[in-house]
Amino acid sequence: MSTYAGKVMTSAEVRSGVPAVDRYLAEGYNTVPGMSSRFAAAVCAGLLRIQSEMGVKGPIAEVGSFEGRFFIALAHALKEGEKALGIDLFDWPNPEVKDRFEANCARHGIGPDTRITWKTDSRTLKADELLEKLGGRRPRFIHVDGEHSRHALSRDLELAASVISPEGIVVLDDMLHPGYPTLMVTVHEFLAAHPEMTVLAIIDRETIVAATKFVLCRTDWFKRYEEALLKAFPDNVWPMGADFEPHWCLVLSLDTRLAAIT
Ligand SMILES: C[S@@+](CC[C@H](N)C(=O)[O-])C[C@H]1O[C@@H](n2cnc3c(N)ncnc32)[C@H](O)[C@@H]1O
Repeated sequence: MSTYAGKVMTSAEVRSGVPAVDRYLAEGYNTVPGMSSRFAAAVCAGLLRIQSEMGVKGPIAEVGSFEGRFFIALAHALKEGEKALGIDLFDWPNPEVKDRFEANCARHGIGPDTRITWKTDSRTLKADELLEKLGGRRPRFIHVDGEHSRHALSRDLELAASVISPEGIVVLDDMLHPGYPTLMVTVHEFLAAHPEMTVLAIIDRETIVAATKFVLCRTDWFKRYEEALLKAFPDNVWPMGADFEPHWCLVLSLDTRLAAIT
């Protein structure tokens, strides 16, 4: 008989632990157009809180900010003096998307002193250009959510790995998505070429639009972050974990049930 019950939660029940983020998730998140899950936003902002508690400082960046839904959640977790850099072509579905991004940030409390809006193409961006935009400070967190082709993801991943701080976290959107099955090949190629990086956790999808994210960190930071995530989100740990052969990592989900075995 099955002995593990697990449970099913809604994303509204999951908190980052940062009051400003949790207020935005409750009152603003669904009013800003976007494609990331609220559950993932709570976990990622929780990771930023964990970093701050560990003394990890620095700016953050997002490739593919669109109208700012996820960006605003992350930016609310920043500490005094830290900045959030939003990178996008800002041409889809029309050029006014940049104005909407800035208006959404302003409406939800992310002022021009905290945000940097950068209309540029991440595929041609160089590491030193990105670092210059951040005043020479390496980001402690990067969300990669730009073009979903293998080539573009590969470029974005290499860029992120070359600028991220040693204690930093890189989050990849739309992993294991039925519409982008080949992106997984790029991730495995990247991990094979970068043994210093590893998958810290998988944040399970909420819907086909609010898809799964992979959380990457440096191998030597894995244990510290894993312990902190287990403490921060105990109700969301799917007990089987993810098998990266031979590496295992956490799976965080709103649904922690296992198949019943009778
Ligand atoms: C799926 S949307 C991002 C959604 C957003 N991160 C959210 O969570 O709501 C993808 C964004 O990536 C941007 N993008 C696509 N290719 C890009 C490139 N080469 N450089 C910069 N941004 C790009 C698009 O303009 C689009 O706004």
